[in-house]
Parts: sequence; structure tokens; C-alpha cells
Amino acid sequence: MDNISNVQKSFDSEKSKIKNLNFLNEIKVKYLGKSGEVSLLMKNMKNISPQDRPAFGKKVNEIRDYIESNLAKIETELAEKEKKAKLKKEKIDVTIPVKINKGSLHPITTVKNEITEIFTGLGFEVLEGPEVETDYYNFQMLNIPKDHPARDMQDTFYFSDNLLLRTHTSPMQARTMEVKKPPIRMVCPGKVYRADDDATHSPIFNQIEGLVIDKKITLCDLKGILDEFVKIFFNKNTKTRFRPSYFPFTEPSVEVDASCSECGGKGCKVCKGTGWIEILGAGMVNPKVLDNAGIDSKKYSGFAFGLGIDRMAMIKYKINDLRLMYENDIRFLKQF
Ligand code: PHE
Repeated sequence: MDNISNVQKSFDSEKSKIKNLNFLNEIKVKYLGKSGEVSLLMKNMKNISPQDRPAFGKKVNEIRDYIESNLAKIETELAEKEKKAKLKKEKIDVTIPVKINKGSLHPITTVKNEITEIFTGLGFEVLEGPEVETDYYNFQMLNIPKDHPARDMQDTFYFSDNLLLRTHTSPMQARTMEVKKPPIRMVCPGKVYRADDDATHSPIFNQIEGLVIDKKITLCDLKGILDEFVKIFFNKNTKTRFRPSYFPFTEPSVEVDASCSECGGKGCKVCKGTGWIEILGAGMVNPKVLDNAGIDSKKYSGFAFGLGIDRMAMIKYKINDLRLMYENDIRFLKQF
């Protein structure tokens, strides 16, 4: 009987120290657990004389009920208290004004949209193609067989011998000619990749391909379209100039410059004193490419061009290091 009242005394003195649910659980185990104080009392039963056992058992049950109900009461109180504290701590004042930084389009995206819209305005449809391309479409269909020296300038990232990150948007010329019948008038904007990395070359950049195929298309049509384009993109006084060039998939091929929109052709920092800025490569689609894609080169002709979107953005925003475009520094991006 003394043991029983000792358990009660020690519980009473510990109960006032219960200040959180963790400690409450410890106390619960200590008194009511499998080898807790109350169980120990029960185990003692065998040492009690038979006539005293009922009274002893009753007492033990009472003390167990006492501890249980006390702990239950403390538990509800504590749970309520902890809930209140949590609610107080996590309270959100929905009336505090918040400043939300709105996102905006990346300068390259803006320029890409602008260029694409100019061409849709001129009657071109917009197509997109895969960035992971096959050697077949990226090179072979464009008259660049394996071991062709033109591959040197277009080294890229290979997944396997035949699978690579496209080096230009030109594979979309071949893909389009394979599935569409002339007349074709399409532009294809998109990301392209090369093993290049310096102030004016990034391993990832953007081009927009243009392709027109119909009867009697000539270099004059190319000139006409590009003249119109530069007038809309830069300003109405902008002119183009064609310089002879070489691409395996166009014949003849040209490099196209636009007169410098900054100085009007007099020569300045933007055009490095020349009055002209190179903007794209172009030419008449090589008859071999037409035939490769199943278009009769005796009946149809066409022109193609590949415009560097990043270059256009650099000129437009007077940015001299292309890498800034890809670092995604918020201080840079905020300016657009
Ligand atoms: N694909 C060429 C390049 O990336 C550009 C080009 C496109 C040239 C279409 C001619 C015709 O350099």
C-alpha cells in the first residue's frame, strides 16, 4: 500500500512539470507503459496475502485511472495551447501590400517574335523543327556529305554518329520540302548549337530559316523580300547588299549585309566603321537539295536564308557581348 501512495506522490510532483507533449509521452510511458510503475505494482500482486489482494487490486486500478485521466486532461490542454501558438506564429496579414516582380520576355524572345511577325505579315507560314536532329537532315540532305569540309565550321554536340544537336535551322528546309508541295513560303525560328564559345559566339544561339519554293523564283525575289524585311525591322532607309559566298545547299550563295541603322551607312562603332552589318546567309536552293527532297528542280526553284536572331538582338539593343544574353543575370534582363 505504501508503494501505491509513493507512485501517486511521485506522479503528482512530476505532473506539474509537464509543459509539452513530448514530455507528456515520456511520463505516460514511465507510469502506464508495459514496464511502467503501475505495471510494476500489478506484478507485486503475488507477494500480497490473498485476503489483502482485492483491496490492493482496487487501489492499483484507482491509481491507474487517476493517472490516465490526469494525463488525458493535460494532453488536451497542451494540444490546444500548441495549436494556438502555431496559429499565432503562422498568422498571415493579408492586408500587407506585397510587391510582385513581374516577369518579362527575354530580349531574344522579343526579337524572335518581332522577326517572325514581319515574315508572317509577308505571307510566310511559321514551322518548327526538332533540335535533336539526324546527320541525314542536318547535313546529307543539304548536300553536305560525310567528310565535306563545310562540316568543319559546324562542329556540334553528338549523341551518336547519326544523332546531333542541329547546327542550323536549315534541316527544316529539307523536312518541309519532303512533306509539302510548292508553292512553299515558310519561316522556322529556333535554337541551334555549335562547338563555339566567345564574345560573339555562343554554343547555343537562335536562327530563323526562310524558304520559298515556286515556279520562276529568282535571286530578285530574295532581294525583294530581304529589302522589305530590313526596312520594317530597322527603318525605312535601310538597304541590303549581297556579297558572294558559299553554302553547299544554295547556288549561288550570298552573305547579306544591312546598311547600319545607327549611322545610316556613314560608319560608326556599331558597324565598326564599315557602314554595313552582316545579318544573314542566303542563296538559291541548290537543285540537288530540291531533287533530294523530291521536288522537281526543272520545274521549281527557290531561295532560302538563315538569319541570326541573336545578332539582330545585339544590334537592336547595342549589346557587344553575346554571352550576356545567356547568363540570365537579373540586372541585365531588367533593362528590357
Ligand atoms: N544555314 C546557314 C548557316 O547557318 C545559313 C543559310 C541558310 C545559308 C539558308 C543559306 C541558306 O550558316
